[in-house]
Amino acid sequence: MCGIVGYIGTKKASPILLSGLSKLEYRGYDSAGISTIEKDFLSVMKDKGRVENLSKIRGIDKLEGTIGIAHTRWATHGKPSKENSHPHQDNSKTFSVVHNGIIENYNELREFLTKNGYTFYSQTDTEVIPNLIHYYYSQYKKDDMQNFLKAVRKACLDFKGSFAIEVISKLYPENMIVVRQDSPLVIGNCEDEKYLSSDIPAILPYTRDFYLLNDLEFVVLSKDKIEFYDKDLNKIEKEIKEIEWDAASSEKDGYDDYMLKEIYEQPAAIKNTIDSKISLDNKCEFNELNFTKKYLQSLNKIYIVACGTAMHAGLAGKNTLEKLCRIPTEADIASEFRYRDPIIDNKTLCIFISQSGETADTIAALKLSKEKGAKTLAITNVEGSSITREADFSIYTHAGPEIAVASTKAYTCQVVLMNCLAIYFAEILESSDDKLIKSLKSDILDLPKKIKKVLECDDEIKKFAKKMYREKDAFFIGRGVDETAAREGSLKLKEISYIHAESYAAGELKHGPIALIEKGVTVIGIMTDEELVKKTISNIQEVITRGAKTLIITNQKIDDKGFDKVIEIPKTNSFISPVLSIIPLQLLSYYISKYKGLDVDKPRNLAKSVTVE
Ligand code: G6P
Repeated sequence: MCGIVGYIGTKKASPILLSGLSKLEYRGYDSAGISTIEKDFLSVMKDKGRVENLSKIRGIDKLEGTIGIAHTRWATHGKPSKENSHPHQDNSKTFSVVHNGIIENYNELREFLTKNGYTFYSQTDTEVIPNLIHYYYSQYKKDDMQNFLKAVRKACLDFKGSFAIEVISKLYPENMIVVRQDSPLVIGNCEDEKYLSSDIPAILPYTRDFYLLNDLEFVVLSKDKIEFYDKDLNKIEKEIKEIEWDAASSEKDGYDDYMLKEIYEQPAAIKNTIDSKISLDNKCEFNELNFTKKYLQSLNKIYIVACGTAMHAGLAGKNTLEKLCRIPTEADIASEFRYRDPIIDNKTLCIFISQSGETADTIAALKLSKEKGAKTLAITNVEGSSITREADFSIYTHAGPEIAVASTKAYTCQVVLMNCLAIYFAEILESSDDKLIKSLKSDILDLPKKIKKVLECDDEIKKFAKKMYREKDAFFIGRGVDETAAREGSLKLKEISYIHAESYAAGELKHGPIALIEKGVTVIGIMTDEELVKKTISNIQEVITRGAKTLIITNQKIDDKGFDKVIEIPKTNSFISPVLSIIPLQLLSYYISKYKGLDVDKPRNLAKSVTVE
């Protein structure tokens, strides 16, 4: 994972780099570092811990350089320590490098370089990068910018794995070279300043004009010029893209934490996502797609593939797709899907859901599906992200930047967008009852209003969180689509409160897990399906008898049967009920995390965008 930032311009680089890093900390926060080009040397300052630590290192405020690179790390190779922190330099300290990704063949390269006289001081895969660049560069007879570029290219062609790399050199104090392969890197453009970052929000305060890079495009930057080269170092032109997000959307806006802000942004995020797609009187519109009835009829299977929260949204999507379109649909975890030799041919449609559009396993699963002849459709929140560049088609959630590591608004937007997509297919296929489609559309359009209503439970949930935050175990149960919301609720609690949580299909509880139920365990039941509510209530009774504390999230009128707390949410079509039932559970995890005094937005060991396998 890791986050990288770069700056080349007329101002002092270090404050800009530190501010960029603090916005990228959600990508990893094990260590941080910067390197700038000073008058006659390359400065490197780094340490383990967060960006805040780095900004307190003595002398960092004295750096005058106007070119610099920076890194915040999520440790993969080598523990969090100063030695393993980036930037890394070659032995002669000619080049400084920051890297996001993994060089898979670093052992071989390290051996090769060691034989050629190089010494390694860290356990990282990254340290081979500056040394290999130096190795190739030193074979050229004269110092020349083109030779610097050629050396970077040669090194990159030797790397197996993923990388977004920024390189500076004391020999070329006016330039920086950057390149990416399967790891994100964007370039923000201003007249006499260039900004680099792993993601767009970190540099939104400076510009909305961005260049998005494809794999193995090499870029030579100076403060007022950008030159792009392809893999063979032929010069290429790239188009600038204006990004619609504004800087304010990536600030906290008065909320204590990004997560709370993002929970409260859900009505607007959903409105933005459905606008222009859904209306009561017209068919669902996806201008980006051109699926015909003949093509959809030819499909023998749809796979929805994703990781984490996005996968939970996929499960909800599967339910609607199967019911409205009658096409067999499977939702699968990307890291499993790619290794289980899935049955795919040109009659398969593969849908990939990813907030960031950068998740390594999801990208790999997409590439595999393409190779096997399937059409691929990406659903992401980030325009121009890697997944959108690989997929045959892309559609977008318009949730705005999601900064908190635990996903909230992206999930609800994904569930809604999957439902819109299912309606779009069903309308082309004429596979579903018009009345059902119309009522589902009307319920989708009402979601922003109903979410606002659900958010009114904030205080009640906060009180319940106070009762629960010292506990060690929780179970989330539901049936049908409620079971998919239970999975997401359980993931949220684990991620940010570190309470052990499991989700189960309510009917499965008595086949084993009920052995764990005793006083001090909370069971959270989600019941939004009229047909199934009585069954889930019986399962809840079974745990009350065994001493569990219970929280019920429901849109049904249910008699008080000794539940500790019942949160009523508005009625809606069961296809989209996770969008409402998840909100109290997002708030519950949030408040428990706060009561425990944890860092809500940056939970331990996690990163928002998982660009390693
Ligand atoms: C990480 C994040 C999760 C996210 C998952 C998939 O594990 O911590 O919040 O759901 O990656 O990310 P994606 O960007 O592909 O949706």
